[in-house]
Amino acid sequence: MKDNHASPEKADNSILHIWGRSTLQGHVKISGAKNAALVVMAGALLCPEDCRIRNVPLLADVARMGQILSALGVKIERNGDILDVNATEIGQSQAPYELVSQLRASFFAIGPILARLGAAQIPLPGGCAIGARPVELHVRGLRAMGADVQIEHGIVHAYVTGPNRRLKGAKIYLDYPSVGATETLMMAATLADGETTIDNAAQEPEVVDLANFCRSMGAKIQGAGTKTIVISGVPKLHSTDYSIIPDRIEAGTFLVAGAITRSEISLSPVISDDLTAVMAKLRAIGAKIIADAPYQLRIIPGESNIATDIETLPYPGFPTDMQAQFMALLTISEGDSVISETVFENRLRHVAELNRMGADIRVKGNHAIVRGVPMLSGAPVVATDLRASAALVLAGLAAEGKTTIQGLQHLDRGYERLDVKLQQLGAKLQRIQGEPEDVEANVEVDNESAASKSTESALK
Ligand code: UD1
Repeated sequence: MKDNHASPEKADNSILHIWGRSTLQGHVKISGAKNAALVVMAGALLCPEDCRIRNVPLLADVARMGQILSALGVKIERNGDILDVNATEIGQSQAPYELVSQLRASFFAIGPILARLGAAQIPLPGGCAIGARPVELHVRGLRAMGADVQIEHGIVHAYVTGPNRRLKGAKIYLDYPSVGATETLMMAATLADGETTIDNAAQEPEVVDLANFCRSMGAKIQGAGTKTIVISGVPKLHSTDYSIIPDRIEAGTFLVAGAITRSEISLSPVISDDLTAVMAKLRAIGAKIIADAPYQLRIIPGESNIATDIETLPYPGFPTDMQAQFMALLTISEGDSVISETVFENRLRHVAELNRMGADIRVKGNHAIVRGVPMLSGAPVVATDLRASAALVLAGLAAEGKTTIQGLQHLDRGYERLDVKLQQLGAKLQRIQGEPEDVEANVEVDNESAASKSTESALK
């Protein structure tokens, strides 16, 4: 695999300095969807022929998934945003622990590996910063399809017995519309004997993208994007050339950047239907959002930002992956807001960092009560997880003075060169490699050189 994309291994001690209160303007290009790209890469394991995947974002998580596929014997090569994957010979059915433990989405490979080889061993992904994230729904569904699944010493061992070692179609009801479980089981069912029905399935756009990818390889899948998905197993899938959808979370993050800096910006490509809940909340806060060209949105801030309540829910509800960014926006909106996180149990850790910047947020259980303040003030803060790091960047853009963010490895997992894209919109920020003390002496706000340095570091 060519090493021309964001590197997962490098411990990132770089720091992002943001000088707040500048106005943004212009247009930003939205990258391919992280969560779709990761699961489509896993889905390529189903196919014994060449798969070309386009519009793949340059992210540390994507690079890590590439390493996991390589460790399984898959040939994988990246050129720009195109990924060529060939899983003709999957050399082994065991994914390496060190890699899987760093990327939960890699567990989703259990479905395609089991379907292809009749056996798969994948380490449990373990907890992560935002919650325990168990996998029992994946396991129960695979058992319903005839797999023998045992969990021993932290490794999930799954086998299919019988003459052809193929999974069998089954009727599966998910207790919760888990995105990952829906994807695992949908992939597994594409090569199973007979028909599988997944009820109470996740309806996220990334599930639909995976279904479309599998269909482009000859899979028979109906109902993706609704609560019931029906898959008729086929004996084999074939080669494909497929393009990933735009990232609705990156797009939502830039819309919030427009609202929080009170700036008019446009973005494309976007699928506005995927952003219905996000746009509804931005309108409730006071912004105008218009679709001024196909696959393009423009945000026009209102006179003022007004408080609103938010509850995260499975799609088409408000996405948990946008909760932290909206919290940053609501800290400086007029009035009180209640944000309820119902999807993950530990996803309010950014509250403490936002409060360090002058926000007034109290947490009660899974609710955050946000009292709008007139202004945030820049401060040194630490990113705790992927979307929390985006929230701190947004808060820094709006704050008075300088914000310094550490923990950028979280940001690089899921945003393709966010700092560079913001600089291109006129934000004053600079990403610097090194310790805080070294950095302070050298900092000058020179957007052009900062942009090129950031690009270099993202491409390493
Ligand atoms: C995916 C996304 C993530 C997003 C989340 C919810 C990827 C790579 N990640 O994560 O960005 O925030 O959807 O939209 O696509 N659960 C169980 N048992 C299971 C599976 C899940 O209890 O077997 C719980 C989880 O702990 C969590 C909730 O269900 O509390 C939602 O998880 P799920 O929808 O599975 O999210 P992921 O697929 O992990």
